Amino acid sequence: MDFLKPRYTPMNRRRRIYEGKAKVLYEGPEPGTLIQHFKDDATAFNAKKHEVIDGKGVLNNRISEFVFQNLNDIGVPTHFIRRLNMREQLIREVEIIPLEVVVRNVAAGSLAQKLGIEEGTQLPRSIIEFYYKNDALNDPMVSEEHVTAFGWASPQEIDDIMALAIRVNDFLSGLFLGVGIRLVDFKMECGRLWENDTVRIVVADEISPDSCRLWDIKSNDKLDKDRFRRDMGGLVEAYSEVARRLGILPEQETPNGRGPVLVTSKD
Ligand code: TMP
Repeated sequence: MDFLKPRYTPMNRRRRIYEGKAKVLYEGPEPGTLIQHFKDDATAFNAKKHEVIDGKGVLNNRISEFVFQNLNDIGVPTHFIRRLNMREQLIREVEIIPLEVVVRNVAAGSLAQKLGIEEGTQLPRSIIEFYYKNDALNDPMVSEEHVTAFGWASPQEIDDIMALAIRVNDFLSGLFLGVGIRLVDFKMECGRLWENDTVRIVVADEISPDSCRLWDIKSNDKLDKDRFRRDMGGLVEAYSEVARRLGILPEQETPNGRGPVLVTSKD
């Protein structure tokens, strides 16, 4: 009666491996795989601010799929295997390195604030920063010295992570520039992927408007999670606009959104 077997275990019977602020990881259909489920939850300031935004998870699943599939296609290794449905993707199980790797091209957010640089200032070169992934400590910024001294990653792994970060930044900058969007900065995470006896660093987690700053080239309108962080509204419409420009969403479609709203900057 093989034909009666569901292809994947129904969601409520799947083993939940990990629940984060915006995603849930379930056991995958085969050893070494996981299912990454995108929720509609939006959080900021270490979850002090929280809202459920209908349609966000669906959009991030699609946008992250698009980015990761393209990275795979150009030879940048990632954990992504394939999208399964509206909210879920099949990924390889990796050991997440407890670092948030931020790459900046334009001053914004915490960099602009900390160093008193006007938001929007082009940086003399791309800057890579490391933050220690630890909610209890509020993800503090750390140096390479901390990373190696505390054994979060080896010097060779840091080199690999930085090389990946530069390749992802170059790819994303070009991808978005082609659709009239400036990649201001983004955050990525890396994991260790074991294959037989070898281990290599791959890009993991997600790359979406939740984890990037994306500004319209002409108007500087924000098309990313700053719309939520800064109470600007229009988040689903902005993410839909990114998806539309990337050719992922057909014109006019906004999944579960509350209808079309013009994306304009309020600040
Ligand atoms: P920041 O300017 O607040 O340090 O953020 C830099 C980039 O990292 C920005 O694109 C947003 C992203 N980011 C995350 O994805 N998760 C986080 O927890 C934080 C603080 C930033």
